[in-house]
Amino acid sequence: MFSRNRRLRENGAIRDLIRETVLTPKDFIYPIFAVEGENIKEEIESLPGNYHYSIDRLHEVIDEVKAGGIRGVLVFGIPDSKDEIASSAFDENGIVQRAVRKIKEIAPELWVITDVCMCQYTSHGHCGIIYGTKVDNDKSLEYLAKIALSHAKAGADMVAPSDMMDGRVMAMRNLLDKEGYKHVSIMSYSAKYCSAFYGPFRDAANSAPQFGDRKTYQMDPANLREAMKEIEDDIMEGADIIMVKPALSYLDVIRCARDRHDVPVAAYSVSGEYAMVKAGAKMGVINEKAIAMEMLLSMKRAGADIIITYHALDAVKWLKED
Ligand code: PBG
Repeated sequence: MFSRNRRLRENGAIRDLIRETVLTPKDFIYPIFAVEGENIKEEIESLPGNYHYSIDRLHEVIDEVKAGGIRGVLVFGIPDSKDEIASSAFDENGIVQRAVRKIKEIAPELWVITDVCMCQYTSHGHCGIIYGTKVDNDKSLEYLAKIALSHAKAGADMVAPSDMMDGRVMAMRNLLDKEGYKHVSIMSYSAKYCSAFYGPFRDAANSAPQFGDRKTYQMDPANLREAMKEIEDDIMEGADIIMVKPALSYLDVIRCARDRHDVPVAAYSVSGEYAMVKAGAKMGVINEKAIAMEMLLSMKRAGADIIITYHALDAVKWLKED
């Protein structure tokens, strides 16, 4: 006696009926890059198919997002000026703050999340304040909280700290609450690994560290238990949603986070994952649509409630084709 598992693979109808995991446009968050200047829609070389937008042209991508049925965006800014303390990151007229105001004006129903970090805004390219040759954790907290508050003031629905300083969720939650932004939620990049998969993003955002690396704050790719501790800490500090990043090489971390915690889990399928697919497709060695959809499906199957992906606009079109 053996199992006839193939019976339930007989044709598309039965396969559809028993499918365990289904992707929908509502799973996706699309990252958006806002730049200073006017009349700019420029393709990002390292992330083909994604663009830098000036504020006056943001409506073009927002229209696409809405038309695709995507419910949320994650806003990144590329500022004109950088300094030691990331002043342009908490300027009320900074690039992210203006982009958020604009997006909320065009699409008030869209869930607008902002990446809260310092690396695009600091001259040294690190995600915090430098003291000597080190990133000073507690000094950075003050600034990170200020950045989060300025995003909330601009109208962000949710802030997403990606810096990996200890205590940032608590610092942000306290300041937001004190200033009357109790309703603004926090999606924490809780298990953010020190990953080579961020390479294309650093080109897109001009945010590579000018000395050293990020190993003293981002996590060692070898560690899973430590990720669970980071997540637990962030939940205790007040994170509403926790994130695992990157996604593809870290599906075990997503699954473990899902099994161990009851808050929503987001997976960030990062720039390197996207760029590899694009490069492979360009070489003609893989089928872009099939590979991308299989990757996204694997993230959802691993337990992600939300997938942040540069494929989002294509993926919703592909979903409609099926
Ligand atoms: C900022 C930030 C990074 C990413 C998201 N927020 C870069 C980094 O930590 O070096 C990476 C996103 C991607 O690769 O798609 N700290």
